[in-house]
Amino acid sequence: MKRKDLENKYNKQKKLLLKYNHHYFNLDSPIISDAKYDQIKNEIIKLENDFPYLIGKKSIQDQIGAPITKKFKKIKHSIPMLSLSNTFDSKGMEDFINKVANYLNKKNKNFNFSSELKIDGISASLTYKDGILIKGLSRGDGKTGEDILENLKTIKDIPKKIIDNYIPKTIEVRGEVYIGKKDFTKLQKNFANPRNAAGGSLRQKDSRETKKIPLRFFAYGFGVINPMTFQKQSEFISKLKKWGFNVNPHNNLVKGIEEIEKHHKKIESIRSSLDYDIDGIVYKIDDLSLQKRLGNTSNSPRWATAYKFSSEKAISVIKNIVIQVGRTGAITPVAKVEPVTVGGVVVSNASLHNEDEIERKDVRIGDTVVVQRAGDVIPQVVSVDITKRKKNSKKYIFPNKCLCGGKIQKEFNLSTNKEDAVRRCLKGYDCSYIAKEKLKHIVSKEAFNIDGLGKKVIDQFWQLKLINTPSDIFELNFDKIKTLEGWGELSVNNLRTAIDGAKNISLDRFIFSIGIRHIGQENAKILSSFFKSINNFSKLYEEGNKDELLENLRDLDGIGETQIVSIKSFFDNKENVKIVKKLITKLKIQDHKELNKKGKLSNTNVMFTGGFKKISRSEAKTLTEELGGKVLGSVTKKLDILVVGDSKPTKKKVDKAKELKVKIFSESDWYKLLNI
Ligand code: IVH
Repeated sequence: MKRKDLENKYNKQKKLLLKYNHHYFNLDSPIISDAKYDQIKNEIIKLENDFPYLIGKKSIQDQIGAPITKKFKKIKHSIPMLSLSNTFDSKGMEDFINKVANYLNKKNKNFNFSSELKIDGISASLTYKDGILIKGLSRGDGKTGEDILENLKTIKDIPKKIIDNYIPKTIEVRGEVYIGKKDFTKLQKNFANPRNAAGGSLRQKDSRETKKIPLRFFAYGFGVINPMTFQKQSEFISKLKKWGFNVNPHNNLVKGIEEIEKHHKKIESIRSSLDYDIDGIVYKIDDLSLQKRLGNTSNSPRWATAYKFSSEKAISVIKNIVIQVGRTGAITPVAKVEPVTVGGVVVSNASLHNEDEIERKDVRIGDTVVVQRAGDVIPQVVSVDITKRKKNSKKYIFPNKCLCGGKIQKEFNLSTNKEDAVRRCLKGYDCSYIAKEKLKHIVSKEAFNIDGLGKKVIDQFWQLKLINTPSDIFELNFDKIKTLEGWGELSVNNLRTAIDGAKNISLDRFIFSIGIRHIGQENAKILSSFFKSINNFSKLYEEGNKDELLENLRDLDGIGETQIVSIKSFFDNKENVKIVKKLITKLKIQDHKELNKKGKLSNTNVMFTGGFKKISRSEAKTLTEELGGKVLGSVTKKLDILVVGDSKPTKKKVDKAKELKVKIFSESDWYKLLNI
């Protein structure tokens, strides 16, 4: 068959299959028999295997393993299932240990770490009441999971009952569901890799189907334990073994960077001989009381990190270099490469980072390059094989305009005092490429979190001009959507419900959503607790004394010059103000809820100066916030307590506090107040 005919056949079959999928999974009403479905699916897979160039961005094998919404009941996790921070080399691991030591204010960095292989599977949570397995959830978005108990029960490695003299009344065991490499080769090759296969099998509608797949389970962690009896992660792992859970045999305790490096190299050398995929080693502080002190950032614990193995590499050829525009206007050059499989995933786009990197590596169209992929990060071009370069090849000239035609510029970075490496389009919403990316940010999990309105749907609605600005999301023409390919009555109703639900949004999420540069989730929370209501927040762009308000932000711990300049320039832009104002009219934005209204420090503004002996500044800040207090960054009359540490307190601050009659506490007064 000719290339063109093959492509046509492939695309036609793929479209059909996706349509059948939609009817089966989303609409719950299949329109063809299972046998016919399998036949088409196998034909596509054969085409993909025989002619890999047919595969565009995503192979069908990835798509049929893709998450399916609406099928399982959603249940909130009692304690969120977080993800892990990553490190890729010894230096990164040392940085991690230093951060832990700094947070705990400890000079001795010889922590015991529970080192555990990072199994590349699908995480699941199992809750036992009086020893009986009663709840089984997928990770979902980390906050809410899917009820997959019946499917999890089919896994032999998962005990349905824990037997021991003593078992905590409630215990939630977390771990990884996976498929062994050998078992995977025996399975019909419907999936790109064992991880996708495990995910797909776990999401089967009918648990009898799941049972046919040789899924396995390694336990490694806990959620709720009531009453809590463990003091060490390693102690918990030993107990899991005793209770009949599978625990990875290579888990052990290590101390200090040398032992970590040695262990890392050892595991890396046996990696390929293991019967399951791993992508690194997780290092967790073993002492659970230290884990508790360290706590979490928004998405990951401070007490653990995943030290990934060196990334997988492959060789390919650059067909073209294009630029992509991000939601902040950042211009990223991307190499379009001949599709190549890197670590089980087909890569056809690889990042070239920025103009300086292209210049430094002298990357050109037509070059043979090494492409690398590590974990979930975007594939990158690592190096160029100059020996393979054709004589007539030309130096790549970086475009001097954005895709919208607008000017692109390097900005001056206030914190590094240098020019940025990245060029940006400065047009904001006036650039249609930026505007579309901003919409994708707005609907993302951390922002409005609208189920069924992902990046692809935004692309589709954008192209059809159904959405132009954020407020359009809340004025969608559902009758029109109903008529679109891939949409039906049920999916449209689900979308409508999801959008209606999203109108009710907390102030911090709203602030994060509007996409002010340098205002991430943490800073949005700080601003939300300062402004308290959308009315107050809107003073940032209403006429009046905006500058004074911005000056007040300077007092907040965590907000600095960079953030203030960025907020100012965001609201100096009239288009931004118009868009934000219109969006607000569609929403019900909740006032800021103090986390702990009855806490010992509620309505109390605290500030710290000088170093402490027992804890770090970061821990002091977290403790204050947990008790309902607020940490300020400067001495004003709003301050209630200035806590003065022994080591180098700022005299000016202490004097000013005295003058304003602010209470002054020593480090030990402070601990007495907190009862620690
Ligand atoms: S600890 C809050 N331990 O890695 C701690 N995770 O990137 C988070 N994983 O979602 C989990 N093996 O699916 C932990 N020994 C291990 C793990 C492990 C695999 C996965 C898990 C998690 C992801 C985090």
